[in-house]
Amino acid sequence: MTDNNHVLIFDTTLRDGEQSPGATMTHEEKLEIAGLLDEMGVDIIEAGFPIASEGDFRAVSEIAKNAKNATICGLARANFKDIDRCWEAVKHASSPRIHTFIGTSPLHRAIPDLTMDEMADKIHETVTHARNLCDNVQWSPMDATRTEWDYLCRVIEIAIKAGATTINIPDTVGYTAPRESADLIRRLIDTVPGADEVIFATHCHNDLGMATANSLAAVEGGARQIECTINGLGERAGNTALEEVVMAMKTRNDIMPYSTKIDTTKIMHISRRVATVSGFNVQFNKAIVGKNAFAHESGIHQDGMLKNRENFEIMRPEDIGLSGTSLPLGKHSGRAALRDKLEHLGYEVGDNQLKDVFVRFKELADRKKEVMDDDLIVLMRSSEDAENDYLKLETLRIVCGTGGPADATLVMNVGGESKTAISQGDGPVDAAFKAIRQLHPNTAHLSLYQVHAVTEGTDAQATVSVRLEEDGNIATGQSADTDTVVASAKAYIHALNRLKVRRDKSGPDTDKREISYTDPS
Ligand code: KIV
Ligand code: ZN
Repeated sequence: MTDNNHVLIFDTTLRDGEQSPGATMTHEEKLEIAGLLDEMGVDIIEAGFPIASEGDFRAVSEIAKNAKNATICGLARANFKDIDRCWEAVKHASSPRIHTFIGTSPLHRAIPDLTMDEMADKIHETVTHARNLCDNVQWSPMDATRTEWDYLCRVIEIAIKAGATTINIPDTVGYTAPRESADLIRRLIDTVPGADEVIFATHCHNDLGMATANSLAAVEGGARQIECTINGLGERAGNTALEEVVMAMKTRNDIMPYSTKIDTTKIMHISRRVATVSGFNVQFNKAIVGKNAFAHESGIHQDGMLKNRENFEIMRPEDIGLSGTSLPLGKHSGRAALRDKLEHLGYEVGDNQLKDVFVRFKELADRKKEVMDDDLIVLMRSSEDAENDYLKLETLRIVCGTGGPADATLVMNVGGESKTAISQGDGPVDAAFKAIRQLHPNTAHLSLYQVHAVTEGTDAQATVSVRLEEDGNIATGQSADTDTVVASAKAYIHALNRLKVRRDKSGPDTDKREISYTDPS
């Protein structure tokens, strides 16, 4: 089915990743990320779980219609209704796939309360049904790594006989370890009748920090599809990170002689986009895409780097789309220099967007001598939703000192009308947030407030993330400013705008998922 050492990359950022609490993306964001995944050479995009909500169904359908090269896959539990709904969404793709699954471990079998025989029958019926709709069917025994060996072999054989073309082996709770992961796949391929007719996939979670190692070990054991997400996004400790497995196979091709179709120069851009739209910032020391992954700041390392970069660098920054040189822009830089720099960073900006970004860039350059790449990236983030925002910060004045409350005077445009609020709080951020709530009363619960400095120096921009939860909807807002309190107020407003969009666009409940992976039916 594939050349022997070619590994298919199955990206589940939009399904397993997006399912992580707080990582919810808007419809447009999902389409954008799917487009980037397609462009970077991902073989299979798991675009969502169509039965879970109207929003998921719409996103999977549209991603299927837009896909150029990738196979588009949707998730379905082991019942006809899920599978039919999934097919309705993915059928628009030139290459559609249905992915159906059921929990096969003793713990998971107990939830629908099925005997081993009853579950085996259900697998036979549902995979047959999926295969009658679609030629390309993936089947997963959820919690495979904690399923009894004999039963695992039995159900995989049933799924293959019923027509599954890919068998995915999920390590649902991140329990396995590299040697076990390799052995499991190897033994399954050696034991299960018909195993050489299908592709075996590996799907690892990172609870013990071994997802990348376990996925690569599974490939050594014979798996030829890795399931992963950008930045390792995903529930709990996340999924295998796409950038890690792909760069590991590329960099250590001498000992892992496997190929993928991924254009690695697109990694950095998509990593930034996923971080922005999911609201999950990438940790500074994250492998491959962390801010420090290619920074060599200690004196010893800098000296070594100047003599020969290979002393401390095993990959070239250019290989993941990071530009080698990074000359800052300043207040005298013109529109052409800005456009050039943005293109270098992976942004395609139309004339109108450039106009808007240029105004913001000039404002920033007036306050900050050198505008670095990272400043421009956060500037791009904050220019995205701004135009159609319902709430817009106009001015914010704070008076505070030691030992007393802070006073905020805030002017905000609310649906086209400029309104003023005066408020007092326990510190400047609290005062500003209270003023915002006065002008836009809401019951949203603040579940995260995070501040980072974008670059060094006291004139550095602060980037602030705010996560709000209201009636089951979650929205993350981000903003940056050289003033931390202004950045905080803007991030809060951004999150409120996103909550509003979510409510207005999707209508009541259509984007909400109140569905469980363990289907009791
Ligand atoms: O982790 C898991 O088991 C899953 C399945 C739905 C494949 O995501
Ligand atoms: Zn998973």
